[in-house]
Amino acid sequence: MITGQFADVGKFKGPILRGLAARAPYLHNGSAQTLTDVVDFYDSRFHIGFTAQEKSDLVAFLSSL
Ligand code: HEM
Repeated sequence: MITGQFADVGKFKGPILRGLAARAPYLHNGSAQTLTDVVDFYDSRFHIGFTAQEKSDLVAFLSSL
């Protein structure tokens, strides 16, 4: 809907993550209140299997952008 090209219909543009920590809630419908909620979403949706340490490292990284 942005390019007007039929081939692009239904494609997504990933959001820019700079300054992420300042703009909760997350995802297009605001369904993730915190960055931990976003990481938990990806972990369960894609069966990633993050450890608690990995989740907290990832949230710390996302908070620093
Ligand atoms: C563990 C890996 C990932 C992390 C930590 C991550 C992180 C994030 C975060 C924090 C947001 C919310 C941005 C906002 O609301 O401003 C987001 C949204 C999004 N990400 Fe990811 N991402 C991951 C993997 C991916 C992958 C693999 C793709 C594409 C193949 C992707 C595509 C998107 C899209 C399209 C959105 C917008 C979704 C929406 O608004 O509902 N992400 N991601």
